[in-house]
Amino acid sequence: MPTIKVQESIMTFSVCDHALLRHRMAVLRDRATPSDTFRETLAAIGAILASETLRDLPETTAEVATPLEVMAHPVLAGPAPALVAVLRAGLGLLEGARRVLPEAPIGHIGLVRDETTLQPSGYMARLPPDIAARGALLLDPMLATGGSAIAAAAQLKAAGTTRIRFLCVVAAPEGVANFAAAHPDIPVLAAALDRQLDARGFILPGLGDAGDRCFGT
Ligand code: PRP
Repeated sequence: MPTIKVQESIMTFSVCDHALLRHRMAVLRDRATPSDTFRETLAAIGAILASETLRDLPETTAEVATPLEVMAHPVLAGPAPALVAVLRAGLGLLEGARRVLPEAPIGHIGLVRDETTLQPSGYMARLPPDIAARGALLLDPMLATGGSAIAAAAQLKAAGTTRIRFLCVVAAPEGVANFAAAHPDIPVLAAALDRQLDARGFILPGLGDAGDRCFGT
């Protein structure tokens, strides 16, 4: 099975092990799920994945006065990493990631995949000016051929960002391998690793086109 091979051989890739996440994935994959429920479910998944991947953020101690006494309490040590959504479908994940890290600045990278060549082309990029110091959480629900995620990560690196993590919802073995070859330094956390790509570059069994399902196009 390609699933097992990818998980064993690519150490930077992992699938988030969470019953709630798997339950939400059933809703996301269902062709009968309407756009509003799809968006809300994608946000819920984004919140779970962001919480999981950021569980080891550096911490320090600060004094906190409760109504009864002052205590030393763990808090985040540095500025929050920027949340960077790959347009359009990354906006759905972003909504959930923002719920768990509201202090994070937001970046947008606009990429669209050519339906014939499957090559991504960029149409916009706006990144927080201090992203190099903060690091970034890159968000795109689909890792199909990997072309879009590879290009987006390259843009983050070109802006000086070295601490990058990539969150996706559904990954294809081809995309996992291509991304790891291009960016072996970037950990990837997915909600599911699917079987394969079809001839049109769609992930099977997948969930269809996340951007179209999010925005009803
Ligand atoms: C989809 C998806 C990813 C990309 C994945 O975006 O949201 O960004 O394709 O494919 P890849 O791994 O082969 O590059 P799409 O280009 O359809 O744009 P959209 O999000 O605006 O619909």
